[in-house]
Amino acid sequence: MMQAQPQKCNHRATTIFPMASLLLSLFSALLFAATITESEAYSTTVKAPYPGYKPEKLTHLHFYFHDIISGNKPTAVPVARGPATNSSATSFALVAIADDPLTIGPEITSEEIGRAQGMYASADQNNFGLLMAFNLVFTKGEFSGSTASMYGRNPILSKLREFPIIGGTGAFRFARGYAQAKTFVFNITSGDAVVEYNVYIWH
Ligand SMILES: *[C@@H]1O[C@H](CO)[C@@H](O)[C@H](O)[C@H]1NC(C)=O
Ligand SMILES: *[C@@H]1O[C@H](CO)[C@@H](O)[C@H](O)[C@H]1NC(C)=O
Repeated sequence: MMQAQPQKCNHRATTIFPMASLLLSLFSALLFAATITESEAYSTTVKAPYPGYKPEKLTHLHFYFHDIISGNKPTAVPVARGPATNSSATSFALVAIADDPLTIGPEITSEEIGRAQGMYASADQNNFGLLMAFNLVFTKGEFSGSTASMYGRNPILSKLREFPIIGGTGAFRFARGYAQAKTFVFNITSGDAVVEYNVYIWH
């Protein structure tokens, strides 16, 4: 087997970004768990997780995401604000936790097929831009019990937003893909939103 060239670690980057350093070590640990070849390089080619494995399926999911912030049963709740969040034009440093229903049709009464559980955080001081970190938790049909992890930047005023699918569990093990989100209804009085999602996942 080809031995990859060992690479010097970028100490400056890992000191400035301790989180990046932590992620790198987690990532390496995962690689080493899956490989039998040890290497000091940042990346190595790994064997398939079991004989005959190959990513073989592209799945398209289409559903509506209900983000309800009003009323006495909100599905998205702000949990933290920075000292200047209230005076920021983009609500910078606001963090919210959500457990948003996912339905087949755009009505909230339409059949629920899962939940989007996670958080968003306002992470852009000049334009509306949310950091999204969500697990799409499926509860119906073929993918019931499986999850897909979605992470990315949400420029909420853009017509079409796109977030990476960075992994998954169950049927979505080894998932990679993308989600496209389009606001379907935004109620300016209540702040509630219905967002149409098209998600494409290789798994
Ligand atoms: C910001 O607004 C929220 C919600 O209206 C309020 O609860 C909070 O006290 C405000 N924080 C500051 C620092 O003014
Ligand atoms: C928007 O929200 C307000 C306040 O909750 C509600 O009274 C109104 O019916 C909603 N509009 C639509 C079109 O759903």
